[in-house]
Amino acid sequence: GRPRDLAGQKIVVSAGGTREAIDPVRYIGNRSSGLQGYALARTAVARGAEVTLVAANVALPDPAGVTVVRVESATELREAVLDASEGADVVVMAAAVADFRPETRHEAKIKKTDGEPDPIYLTKNPDILAELGARRQAAFGSASGFAESGGSADTGAAGGPVVESGSASGRGSRSGASPKVIVGFAAETHDVLANGQAKLARKGCDLLVVNQVGEGRAFGTPDNAATVLVAGGDPVEVPLGPKEDVADAVWDLVAARLS
Ligand code: C5P
Repeated sequence: GRPRDLAGQKIVVSAGGTREAIDPVRYIGNRSSGLQGYALARTAVARGAEVTLVAANVALPDPAGVTVVRVESATELREAVLDASEGADVVVMAAAVADFRPETRHEAKIKKTDGEPDPIYLTKNPDILAELGARRQAAFGSASGFAESGGSADTGAAGGPVVESGSASGRGSRSGASPKVIVGFAAETHDVLANGQAKLARKGCDLLVVNQVGEGRAFGTPDNAATVLVAGGDPVEVPLGPKEDVADAVWDLVAARLS
């Protein structure tokens, strides 16, 4: 059995892959199945956590005992993750978020009979993981939320790299309180450690799970192998195995940082 070392912890996990609409019937998407995020949610519940799963286009049944919020685009995923992160202890961004979206969404279906196709221009999506890290940095003045237990909630006034404060986001009800532990994912094909360490620092997260992209791993398969990079600590290797193994390795490190 698993330890109940996440008892009472509020945890947000994003899973799946975003879709960015071109017109009412077409989108730009990616191959993420959501299996790793769902494994994280199931194992966190088994270890006693209270889990909200923000699922982008996942064709999997809701895991028992988990609050599931379904979203489609990166914009929707950002809103749902920031809302669910209010008062959360831990956020894990396992979703594959589209880096770009079409600049305009056509109101009507683009027809062959319209003639030669127009180009699709892309615009950048917000980096949600980097935003969570920057907000915490602004609130606590350090990469980790442990330096102080209180901290100003007014992230917008700190002059840091915060993209947008909670009150400017449309709902107006977020306090800006930051999670204690922030976990990101990355798929790297080469220079895994160097690229991963740079990304960990750039995004301001505590842990970065680097998937070694290749045969029988990551996208759409039940198995995964990963290197978990740890801010201020040694990397942890998780050998090829079920995605639950990667999830449990993440929760071991999260539980250690929470205690
Ligand atoms: O920069 P890269 O896409 O490799 O980073 C991957 C990590 O960042 C994942 O944890 C993913 O969920 C997160 N991400 C994000 N918002 C984006 C792009 C990636 O939160 N726009």
